[in-house]
Amino acid sequence: MDLFEYQARDLFEKHGVPVLQGIIADTPEEARAAAESIGGVTVVKAQVKVGGRGKAGGVKVAKTADDAEAAARDILGLDIKGHVVKRVMVAQGADIKEEYYFSVLLDRANRNYLALCSFEGGMEIEQLAEERPEALARVAVDPGVGITLEKAREIAVAAKFPAELVDKVAPVFVTLYDVYVKEDATLVEVNPLVLTGAGDIVALDGKVSIDENAAFRQPGHEALEDKDAADPLEAKAKQHDLNYVKLDGEVGVIGNGAGLVMSTLDVVAYAGEAHGGVKPANFLDIGGGASAEVMAAGLDVILGDPQVKSVFVNVFGGITACDAVANGIVAALEMLGDTATKPLVVRLDGNNVEEGRRILAAANHPLVTLASSMDEGADKAAELAAK
Ligand SMILES: Nc1ncnc2c1ncn2[C@@H]1O[C@H](COP(=O)(O)OP(=O)(O)OP(=O)(O)O)[C@@H](O)[C@H]1O
Ligand SMILES: [Mg+2]
Repeated sequence: MDLFEYQARDLFEKHGVPVLQGIIADTPEEARAAAESIGGVTVVKAQVKVGGRGKAGGVKVAKTADDAEAAARDILGLDIKGHVVKRVMVAQGADIKEEYYFSVLLDRANRNYLALCSFEGGMEIEQLAEERPEALARVAVDPGVGITLEKAREIAVAAKFPAELVDKVAPVFVTLYDVYVKEDATLVEVNPLVLTGAGDIVALDGKVSIDENAAFRQPGHEALEDKDAADPLEAKAKQHDLNYVKLDGEVGVIGNGAGLVMSTLDVVAYAGEAHGGVKPANFLDIGGGASAEVMAAGLDVILGDPQVKSVFVNVFGGITACDAVANGIVAALEMLGDTATKPLVVRLDGNNVEEGRRILAAANHPLVTLASSMDEGADKAAELAAK
């Protein structure tokens, strides 16, 4: 999960990274009030989860509270690379003497952490990495040791900071590493990290990505989620711990096991070609334990998608045998009652398949069609969706 700049700023502050005051505002009037409360020169900054805000007109210096209000009026509603600005941060203006770059990230390929640092900030880091790779220090960080003060100094030296600055930036790198580890981040980036006229080091812009796998031990992170941006169906699926991704076709797909569901998507798309080009409407993996509750929750999410015209349930019975899945489907349809209105094609195979098919046949639900193979089921579901 990527965070907004203001959220990164808050985490920085929590862990002792030097930052300037920043107040969020959703309206020009709020921006004015924020600028008045901060006082002096402020910078009004678009809060969108995309880079290059400055170039797109999303970062504006304001000398007065009037200017801040006007800047917010310009920036709110701005479309930056497909992200519409709904909120700005009014930040205290810094007297910038020099700009640097620092980040620490998860280096999956090397099963390690990696610190990137440059004494030459101010330009886009991708561009710097390409044009002047020697100006970007890459220092491996052992997760078992982390960025100690000694390591931080090594990073600063590798990034060609002059001796008198090494002692100033190194402690800041240590606090940024604290953010990285204590918040279970996969990326902490500061661009620019600046030296002010008064000689202080300050993080002026922060980017943080949080590892959602650590949610169980980071109770505070749920509040960082951008509820507005989440697809309502995906949010509902998440509530039920379902592995759901919305796609833009017409055939709802439910299966057990990510591999089976992925191949079901392919088979449905292929079968759909013969039926006017219908496509899968979603990915939904109900996992190993296809209980009635899980099946009902899954069907409920899929049937809630107005684009869905038919549903293909493709289950390979394993530890949870086909009869349990069949009972789950029957019970789920009972639970959903009148809210289930779209045709369901069910293909069962694997452990206890005969009993599973018998249960579905005996239930004789008007919406359910049994298919004897994956191809047949996909074809039938595509045909029903095309009707
Ligand atoms: N609080 C501030 N005071 C003074 N100048 C600032 C402040 N915040 C940002 N700036 C100036 O604006 C430039 C761009 O700001 P920032 O890095 O936040 O956005 P960006 O780099 O354009 O966006 P992104 O990081 O999303 O690509 C900075 O390099 C800095 O020179
Ligand atoms: Mg930046």
